[in-house]
Amino acid sequence: MGVLKCAIFIHLGKIVFSMARIHRLSLQHFRNLTQLDWTLDAGQNILVGDNAAGKTALIEALWFLASGRSFRANQPKQLIQQDHSQFTLFCEVAHQSTTHRLGLSRDANQTDIHLDGQKNTPQSALSQCLPLQLLTPESHQLLTEGPKARRRYLDWGCFYHYPEFIAHWRSYQRALKQRNMALKQHRPQDEVALWDKSLIQSGTAVNQIRQDYLEKLEPILHDFAEYLMPRFNQQHRLTLNFYPGWSAQTGGDFAQSLQQHLVKDRQLGFTQYGPHRMDIRIKVDQQDALLRLSRGQQKLLVCSLLLAQAQYLAEQTGESVIMLIDDLPAELDETHRYKLLNLLQEMQIQHLVTTTAIELIPNIDKGSRQTFLLQQGQLSQQA
Ligand SMILES: Nc1ncnc2c1ncn2[C@@H]1O[C@H](COP(=O)(O)OP(=O)(O)OP(=O)(O)O)[C@@H](O)[C@H]1O
Ligand SMILES: [Mg+2]
Repeated sequence: MGVLKCAIFIHLGKIVFSMARIHRLSLQHFRNLTQLDWTLDAGQNILVGDNAAGKTALIEALWFLASGRSFRANQPKQLIQQDHSQFTLFCEVAHQSTTHRLGLSRDANQTDIHLDGQKNTPQSALSQCLPLQLLTPESHQLLTEGPKARRRYLDWGCFYHYPEFIAHWRSYQRALKQRNMALKQHRPQDEVALWDKSLIQSGTAVNQIRQDYLEKLEPILHDFAEYLMPRFNQQHRLTLNFYPGWSAQTGGDFAQSLQQHLVKDRQLGFTQYGPHRMDIRIKVDQQDALLRLSRGQQKLLVCSLLLAQAQYLAEQTGESVIMLIDDLPAELDETHRYKLLNLLQEMQIQHLVTTTAIELIPNIDKGSRQTFLLQQGQLSQQA
């Protein structure tokens, strides 16, 4: 097969995987799903259901467990089934050769998290055990919307690769909040400056990690783009430019940038520049990627970006991600559906794919596969 000559398959052969794998998911009172138990296949899981069956809700439940937030609701209380007071999620996951039990319940006000029977676990501990990636019909927003989605994308990798990242990021957020409060209340200059030391220290650390991670990711991205969109990749130059969150005119130094913008920050009442404004500027032939890519190409580029992260994680840690793909047929045409699923099986990534019709999912002749039908809130396994 021609595709197997692609550079990415050469990389794949060298990796020994310790697969992250969801064994079981059960949930209660999550959106339209009253009570559901799901034992998943280690490879491909196809979830078939009519519109409004609750397919996206199932993907959303897993995403909530792994990230503490929904990708489509601003308020977690919207996820609680109507006329109920809370939802609960439970998941059994194999991660780094250990089976973990993750539990989460959420009422109108608060979230309770359990990990392996331990109460009051931080959300980050669940995220650590459940390295999920998500592809939905809205995923092209990674390219089309503001920088927030791209910061989340990059920070996902920083979180899994650099154990110290989360502490630096939290410390940065804390210092930023205090500094902004001082600016907003028009406190004297030395009170504003009080926060600068920890802001600069943690901000610089966050920045270095992000820059380092993006540098490692970029060549891998090109391998996946070559596989998923070869003609485009050969004819155009795709680049990821790192924007730290402040102007490069200051020589790249965050401390200098703070100093330079202090007067304006005080007028505006907030810190204008810093790692909280970071962005990845995705360019095609030095132009904004959006101007050059069709909607389908945007989706393929987003797939390539996610797969590059998955591959780099596997190369560095031997761990695989778990991929959630909501409404695959809405995402990609038949050729690319095949290419993507083939690659996921080749990479030994457990994946969940939702669709309204099984015929739209190409049969990949490798790896294991199970099909489940979601109907009236109940799951049944198909032969
Ligand atoms: N809090 C809630 N309580 C009860 N039902 C809800 C709640 N939130 C959403 N729903 C309902 O859950 C159902 C499932 O929605 P979901 O988006 O998961 O369906 P889907 O299978 O992904 O459909 P589609 O194929 O159209 O994407 C919808 O009928 C929706 O109205
Ligand atoms: Mg849906």
